[in-house]
Amino acid sequence: MRKIVFATGNKNKTVEIKAILGEDKFEVVTMKEAGIDVEIVEDGNTFAENALIKARTVAKFTDAIVMADDSGLEIDCLNKEPGIYSARYMGEDTSYELKNLNLIERVNAAGTDRKARFVCAMAAVLPDKTEISVEGCFEGEIALSPAGENGFGYDPIFWVPERGCTSAQLPPEEKNAMSHRGKALRMMAEMLEKRLDSDEC
Ligand code: IMP
Repeated sequence: MRKIVFATGNKNKTVEIKAILGEDKFEVVTMKEAGIDVEIVEDGNTFAENALIKARTVAKFTDAIVMADDSGLEIDCLNKEPGIYSARYMGEDTSYELKNLNLIERVNAAGTDRKARFVCAMAAVLPDKTEISVEGCFEGEIALSPAGENGFGYDPIFWVPERGCTSAQLPPEEKNAMSHRGKALRMMAEMLEKRLDSDEC
């Protein structure tokens, strides 16, 4: 069993990550559980840069595998806003109820293109300090009104055309099977297993 320190304080993400990676090969612990308390300055210009910044910062404090992700919602008719600023959109302390209503209004005002996607970049720094980066996307649209109680953040306004509902209306296993984070994590798990099988890093 290999230990992975996940560079996040977000409990929702940790729950999804443990469910996707399974708990037989990897023991996933948060930074806090690993006793690492460091401020991470996310000043990259892309999801991929921010994921690497987080993983590299935490890797300075441990020899375990460190993984980090950076994710967000891109809306085509809003020039891919909120993008890397998804968590900070309208201020960190503004409720998602308000953020979601605001985005629906802006998309309504912009016209008919409602295309959007969740993006998740995932980075790992291995014990020998080599790095792996992957990215997963979840394509959808901005719903006409919020719906659903599952998930978090922008899930109530993320319409999944194949399912005819929002990602907040999908059971967690179904969201994990198609989500940006699910895709990125499965790619990462596959690459990590190959690396760990091929050498002692
Ligand atoms: P991060 O913690 O910097 O990666 O910010 C991610 C932000 O993007 C979250 O706080 C949400 O606002 C949004 N986000 C990312 N993934 C999801 C998702 O699966 N559902 C809903 N919102 C998401």
